[in-house]
Amino acid sequence: MRLKHIIFGHRLVARALVRAASTLVSTLGLISHCLRLRRSVGRAILPAAAFRRLGCLVGQDAILRPDCQSVQPDPVRPVRLSAAIALLLAALTLTACRQDMHDQPRFIPLRPSGFFEDGRSERPLIEGTVARGHLNDDLALYTGRGPDGKPLDTFPFPVTKDVVARGQERFNVYCSPCHDRTGNGDGMVVRRGYRHPPSYHTDQIRDLANGYIFDVITNGFGAMPDYAAQIPVRDRWAIVAYVRALQLSENASVNDVPAEDRSKLGGAK
Ligand code: HEC
Repeated sequence: MRLKHIIFGHRLVARALVRAASTLVSTLGLISHCLRLRRSVGRAILPAAAFRRLGCLVGQDAILRPDCQSVQPDPVRPVRLSAAIALLLAALTLTACRQDMHDQPRFIPLRPSGFFEDGRSERPLIEGTVARGHLNDDLALYTGRGPDGKPLDTFPFPVTKDVVARGQERFNVYCSPCHDRTGNGDGMVVRRGYRHPPSYHTDQIRDLANGYIFDVITNGFGAMPDYAAQIPVRDRWAIVAYVRALQLSENASVNDVPAEDRSKLGGAK
């Protein structure tokens, strides 16, 4: 068997070899550092002037030796050596920890396991488990349907001017490419060959329930793709409100205008 096979064919052996080699290299490095230290023990490790300054700074007995001239490098030696030994010990123990981290007792998702009777490492979810943040228990808000399963013709939250303004902005982003900004269905994409959607201004679409339009945005309809991923739930409802505003704008009569404002219309019917 060639070396290539040993290394690539037996991953475990190869990993052990690499680990042993790296431990050896770091240990050798430390030992040679210690030897070098020992060789320099006879000499001053720092220049004499620096030592004098150090002695003054550390100054444990600056009062006893006010001149600071007689400080010798000797007391420093044992400190250096014991630090090196501590480092060596730390290096040896830390490399051992590292190996533990490499061989974690864990399962890669969906790997089989002999530990449980069903042979799976994953545990089946307990019935009724809901992913965090996905409870969605407000049926009306999330499905547009009532308890009877029928599309609602109300809104799950009050529709204010701000909601309609938000709906207009989102509609112009997401729906106008096909339905165009007036809802007639002559959007840019349609003019370039996409299937023509029905105009919003027909009785058929006017009669659709709010919850149904919400569902069309959420799940798509026929040739129309769904927008659940792009448009958050509350924005979908805001768009529904704006579709209603668009429909009203094309199909309102004078009677829809409050009596006190009718004079401002300048005779429009
Ligand atoms: C890529 C083009 C496209 C976009 C974008 C688009 N639609 Fe449509 N829409 C269509 C087409 C095409 C149909 C008709 C589908 C069919 O009949 O197969 C349609 C149909 C509809 C209908 C009528 C459903 C029915 O039962 O007749 C509604 C309501 C609607 N779209 C609302 C929206 C809203 C709201 C948006 C924006 C969130 C939107 N659409 C974005 C292409 C689009």
